[in-house]
Amino acid sequence: MKKALKIAGYILLALLLLIVVGALYINISGIPKYPVNLPEFRASMTPDAIDRGEKLASLLCAGCHLDHKSGRLIGKHMVDVPAEFGTIYSKNITADPEFGIGGWTDAEILYLLRTGIKRDGYYAPPYMAKLPKMADQDIDAIISFLRSGRPMVKADKTPDQEPIPSFLSKLLCRVVFKPFPMPTEAIPMPDSLDVLALGQYLAHNLDCYSCHSADFKTNDYLNPEKSAGYFGGGNKPLNEKGREVLTANLTPDPETGIGNWTEEQFIRAVKYGIKGNNEPALQYPMLPHTQLSDHEVGAIYQYLRTIPPIKNKVERSLNL
Ligand code: HEC
Ligand code: HEC
Repeated sequence: MKKALKIAGYILLALLLLIVVGALYINISGIPKYPVNLPEFRASMTPDAIDRGEKLASLLCAGCHLDHKSGRLIGKHMVDVPAEFGTIYSKNITADPEFGIGGWTDAEILYLLRTGIKRDGYYAPPYMAKLPKMADQDIDAIISFLRSGRPMVKADKTPDQEPIPSFLSKLLCRVVFKPFPMPTEAIPMPDSLDVLALGQYLAHNLDCYSCHSADFKTNDYLNPEKSAGYFGGGNKPLNEKGREVLTANLTPDPETGIGNWTEEQFIRAVKYGIKGNNEPALQYPMLPHTQLSDHEVGAIYQYLRTIPPIKNKVERSLNL
């Protein structure tokens, strides 16, 4: 009996030691590194692509990279990343070759946006956006814009501040969050005359579902419809004061979702952030999407009417 206890004690000790060594290893080795297999790619730089890219970047990149004082994408301290993930700064992605991404090739930027792997092989943790499903033409547009010299991306010499990921971030990047595969086939734009296809494409690639489903952790970024509570709301992004804001249910459930909304009401809420008698509909981190056309927002609305309704009453957190 005594011997058995002793053996059990040793096993426990060995296990503890293994956990401590494992934790130390993760903490010291940090964010994991992956091979970089760059595709052949040059951004098209056509005027149409640059215009489209500016619109997409102002919706998808500015929220995290824009410094409001300079109006440029020079990075900032991200107060809306939960403290458990560490102290996180986004980066200078203007055209400056030394301080921005002017020294990156088009292919390196493409590889990062698709897979989440930076040019030095390090994985960009979940607090940096990835675009695994975006049409090739739209990704080309974003990269063309980053290269365009337009005011938001004009070369700027603001140095980066290195993010300080917490142990939890490092652990999650080892076990939960993995890079996305580089697409092996072309991803075409949706047919803009097929309203439902366009609406689904925008609802997925403008990140609507990622905030408006149950939780970032249970989102399925490669098959968005399989995300838990798809568009049923209740996810809790943080506002700029670092407080949780519950996202709205956008499924067609008439009581708890937007089943009773008209297309006009939806367009007004999404584009201008107002509903009813000039009541506010949106708050940070969802800003008015004035860049989108009525046709685009209308298409998202039409698509949302076709998805399964979810009964989930979400308390509004406006005016926190
Ligand atoms: C949710 C916040 C967020 C969004 C949205 C976002 N980024 Fe980032 N981005 C970050 C953070 C944080 C880093 C730093 C990550 C790191 O170094 O570990 C980063 C890093 C980068 C880098 C690497 C720069 C370098 O010098 O290492 C590039 C390039 C980049 N982002 C481009 C973009 C583009 C283009 C978009 C829009 C399609 C975008 N980001 C959207 C937060 C974001
Ligand atoms: C970064 C997270 C985030 C993203 C991305 C996002 N939303 Fe939101 N959305 C919110 C939050 C937060 C609210 C406000 C909830 C509150 O204040 O109660 C909101 C509110 C709304 C509302 C108002 C709902 C109501 O009942 O008043 C609509 C409509 C909406 N979003 C549609 C969209 C669409 C369409 C997209 C994609 C183009 C989108 N959202 C992308 C977070 C997000």
